Amino acid sequence: MENSRGNFGSKLGVILATAGSAVGLGNIWRFPYMTGQNGGAAFILVYIGCIFLLGLPGMVAEFVIGRHSAANAARAYKNLAGRGPWGVIGYMGVFTSMIILGFYAVVAGWCLQYLFASLVGQIHGDATFVKNYFTTFSSDPFRPLIWTVVFILVTHAVVVKGVRKGIEKASKILMPMLFILLLIVVVASCSLPGAMKGVEFLFHPDFSKVNQKVFYEALGQGFFSLSLGTACLCTYASYFSRQTNLVGSALQIASIDTLIAILAGLMIFPAAFAVGVNPDSGPSLIFITLPNVFQQAFGSAPLIGYVISIAFYALLALAALTSTISMHEIGTAFFYEELHISRKKGAWIETTVCVIIGIFCSLSCGAVPALKLFGMSVMNFCDMLTANILLPLGSFLTCIFLGWFIPKQIVKDEITNWGTLRHTAYGLFLFMVRFVCPVCIAIVFLHQLGVI
Ligand code: PFF
Repeated sequence: MENSRGNFGSKLGVILATAGSAVGLGNIWRFPYMTGQNGGAAFILVYIGCIFLLGLPGMVAEFVIGRHSAANAARAYKNLAGRGPWGVIGYMGVFTSMIILGFYAVVAGWCLQYLFASLVGQIHGDATFVKNYFTTFSSDPFRPLIWTVVFILVTHAVVVKGVRKGIEKASKILMPMLFILLLIVVVASCSLPGAMKGVEFLFHPDFSKVNQKVFYEALGQGFFSLSLGTACLCTYASYFSRQTNLVGSALQIASIDTLIAILAGLMIFPAAFAVGVNPDSGPSLIFITLPNVFQQAFGSAPLIGYVISIAFYALLALAALTSTISMHEIGTAFFYEELHISRKKGAWIETTVCVIIGIFCSLSCGAVPALKLFGMSVMNFCDMLTANILLPLGSFLTCIFLGWFIPKQIVKDEITNWGTLRHTAYGLFLFMVRFVCPVCIAIVFLHQLGVI
């Protein structure tokens, strides 16, 4: 039975929708370039450690708060906080998610442009041509803007349909498609001559490369990738049923997210190494380096190159969409429940705010260079503000709040489904959330602020 605010209809729906939020540009765009810049396999091992030791408890913490309250993020924290100040974490999550959606939709829009360009065979030429193509496109005042708005409107169209008919249904279609496209590109990339060097880069750790920075980067990437600290997981958990096993689901979602990130590495590094390109070029990896790589790698079989390029950008757009849906839902649920308006109106408010943020971010990427905040383009500022400050702060406060202030019985009931599940994980979970997670997040946070 679906209650009046909606809920997920099946276990598979819970896993696919929440994994859909986690799997996104963070896995396919950010993870490979981070791995490239931080020494390959050693970074991946540290990353996996961060996900399962620190990310997982953070994820379960948000699930506990969300399912217990069965309300939008702001109210979920407020219900448990009573008169205390902790309710602010929920509002912070709503605010953070709107900013992320604004700049994330710009990059997602670039993926749509590249999908279109791949379809009509536009990105064809030497390295300088490909580089200029990106610069000309991203500094155009209109084209990136149009794609950004299109992306947000597609997201809106899914979210407005509701939790079960919109989010869950879309996730059940999009996630398998994403996985199939990913496998196609992985197989093509790994079968190129010379691809094994890329596989080796991914799976042969060189521990001399592990330093403090690798740890900081891996933790930050892990939190972004699991959608932690934005109240996104809390919002989705408010639609979970009482039968959903919170720890088990978190484990499955974190595993899917990590698997997809590693597959994304297996898609990009073998192709890059096959043509002798070092994949450490940073954020422009998928828009400048990869189109070159695809052209060179499949130069003798242009049709395969054409198909792979389309599959790759379609895959990125799908991954981005399942994530933007989850970000949009945070604000939509907030507006319609808190302002007592219809879901449709709530979704329109969220869309309007995010389009405005998206416009500023998009224009700041080249068309209007004067659009700067604290010496950074608005786009980079939004990225920095959320990834380096608001996300870690949100996770840190959530861990402290759950670990030290929420009544233990509530936490225990949620983890054990009111005593019906074995609770071996409970003690460990509480220990991690009370001590280990806050200390580690605080260290990374202070490092990112340049304090340590
Ligand atoms: N986890 C998403 C990714 O890896 O791309 C990004 C994200 C989604 C961040 C949802 C925050 C959020 F609320």
